[in-house]
Amino acid sequence: MSFIKRWRFCTLLLSLTALSATAQDGKGDVVYVPTPQVVVEEMLEMAKVGPSDFIIDLGSGDGRIVITAAKKFGARGFGVDLDAYLLKKARESARREGVAERAQFVEQNLFEADLSHATVITSYLLPEMNEKLRPKLLALKPGTRVVTHDYDMGEWHPDEQKTLDVPEKQVGDPGKSYIFFYIVPAKIAGKWESLIYTGGRGVIYEFEFDQSFQKVGGDARVDGKPARLPLFQVRGDQVSFEAELPQGAGLAKHRFQGRVRDDVIEGTVTIGGQKPLPWKAQLKARGELRMSALETDGSVPW
Ligand SMILES: C[S@@+](CC[C@H](N)C(=O)[O-])C[C@H]1O[C@@H](n2cnc3c(N)ncnc32)[C@H](O)[C@@H]1O
Repeated sequence: MSFIKRWRFCTLLLSLTALSATAQDGKGDVVYVPTPQVVVEEMLEMAKVGPSDFIIDLGSGDGRIVITAAKKFGARGFGVDLDAYLLKKARESARREGVAERAQFVEQNLFEADLSHATVITSYLLPEMNEKLRPKLLALKPGTRVVTHDYDMGEWHPDEQKTLDVPEKQVGDPGKSYIFFYIVPAKIAGKWESLIYTGGRGVIYEFEFDQSFQKVGGDARVDGKPARLPLFQVRGDQVSFEAELPQGAGLAKHRFQGRVRDDVIEGTVTIGGQKPLPWKAQLKARGELRMSALETDGSVPW
């Protein structure tokens, strides 16, 4: 943890401890502090929450995130918390706001919650809780959005982040809220193979992707000739990258874009100025998702 993060973490702990007498029966891993309403709305905007979304708030407090998602954004979902008083308060608010059907609250440890139906996960938890949750979040369906308040996911860098001025906020970094937005990436680490019909014949393209969270680098071989791929990002189940790859006696710009479904990527490749060709890559050997930064000096170790 950087010095600034450690300092913000310590001030949050101090402020949370000071507030802990006001609302909490002491069962959870972090005391109750509500996310300011303006931040709740920005978190939901950043995740582009809408009527087709199913949201889960991990440690739901008075229920404001799920209730706002239901009332203002038309979503449905649930919150989990261990605090019986807060759960009662959340259910009462959901009823009062007319969204009790779509915003539900469950007494459960957030680390044990079934997240598999979520399209959006929200949280306002301590950094070590985010870190503990990270493998479970990364295992969710590619494209699932995760929004956290004030604390990020460590080495998993956010796809987007925002700082808001919140004058009434007294905890963490007083007067400021940090929002971190992530999209669960498809896992493409490993070896893939494609047959592309170009120049009147089938050409074998082999890819070896090295992936750190949503960032990917690696190598390619075209007809056996090696080439390095530039770093690119996977956004949910969408892959898109450009590379100068062997083509006949020289090199040609290839623009690949496709959708990942388990062990197949399907989309198009545009070679030079030609019209797009169908592109299908088949997984040959799955690799491990790396939990550290990718090398950027071209020395990706295989
Ligand atoms: C900082 S508050 C955030 C409340 C709400 N999500 C918000 O942003 O307004 C954290 C909440 O997590 C709950 N909590 C802490 N540890 C938990 C656990 N292991 N399982 C479920 N809830 C937990 C607390 O009771 C508290 O309501």
